[in-house]
Amino acid sequence: MKDLFGREISYLRLSVTERCNLRCRYCMPEDGVCKKRHEEMLTQEEMLAAVRAAASLGVTKLRLTGGEPLAWPNIVSLCAKAAAVEGIGEVCLTTNGTLLPKLARPLRAAGVSRLNISLDTLDAEKYRAITRCGELSEAVAGIRAGLDAGFEKIKLNAVLIGGFNDDEIPALAELTRRYPLDVRFIELMPMVDREVFGPEAFLPYTAVTEALPELEPVAPDGGVAKLYRLPGALGNVGLISPVSAHFCAACNRLRITADGKIKPCLHSPEEVSIKGCTEEEMREKLRQAILAKPKWHGELNYAEPSRANRAMNRIGG
Ligand code: GTP
Ligand code: 5AD
Ligand code: SF4
Repeated sequence: MKDLFGREISYLRLSVTERCNLRCRYCMPEDGVCKKRHEEMLTQEEMLAAVRAAASLGVTKLRLTGGEPLAWPNIVSLCAKAAAVEGIGEVCLTTNGTLLPKLARPLRAAGVSRLNISLDTLDAEKYRAITRCGELSEAVAGIRAGLDAGFEKIKLNAVLIGGFNDDEIPALAELTRRYPLDVRFIELMPMVDREVFGPEAFLPYTAVTEALPELEPVAPDGGVAKLYRLPGALGNVGLISPVSAHFCAACNRLRITADGKIKPCLHSPEEVSIKGCTEEEMREKLRQAILAKPKWHGELNYAEPSRANRAMNRIGG
């Protein structure tokens, strides 16, 4: 189905949980998630009904997000059932990777087609600092498990943070020479809790092209990243620029949060609740949300942070 600006909506990002085994500073408050009543969250059956309703409106790509989707107990079963929904051609996951050593193979067997894995640094101390508790070795083991399980086109997501990992741009990009992976640098998006970072933390994507003048542009893959390649590399370097060069004109996405709110746009406060709805009602609400998609997310910078009244872990990225 098309929205009012002629954009075909074909991609659903469904967050299955707000919880996470890490506490990334740009994503989650330090004290984690406030305990929500179980009844406020979507059940697996409701998630599947939402996927079927979205597929009936033309959604073909599903991405499961979180919090950490692999920390949600029903994830493998949900992936298998979602992959079997008529019209859903691709089930993808965005994960911090730390639980992949156990889950990569079952997820592959359940029909998951692609994995995007967060990795902001190659330094164990810095990894512990940005995630407030994580072990780099566990994330690296997860990336290896993903490759070993046969996942192709794995993308690593590194959030660019001035004074934190800008000195690691070459080392992170270098991974694309050694492994069949894409490495994508994402501009830090100022969310409600942006006081965690000062203005100097917000770097434009051109920090990467300046650090790596040898990057050669390659054709886009239909995603939000501008793609480049290091000479002779196996994978691409992607640049995601929601702040300095937004990509709203080509937005094909809808989001559903773990507590059952459809978000027509990542950065707008509008939410349409589907908790407790039948599949038919969900279909109608999804249609309303598509028609309510704004043309763009409005100004987004340090002085004018996201209007989404939620931290990233409660949206799903
Ligand atoms: P592909 O299917 O591989 O293209 O994945 P993806 O880039 O859509 O998903 P992923 O979960 O890896 O997201 C990468 C980054 O892009 C995250 O920081 C997201 O928050 C950001 N992103 C994804 N969609 C949007 C969007 O509609 N608007 C904005 N501003 N950022 C987005
Ligand atoms: N700005 C940019 N990217 C973010 N992510 C989480 N919070 C932010 C933010 N404030 C990224 C994670 C993950 C993806 C889903 O979103 O690193 O890779
Ligand atoms: Fe967890 Fe991902 Fe948020 Fe980090 S970015 S706290 S890994 S949900």
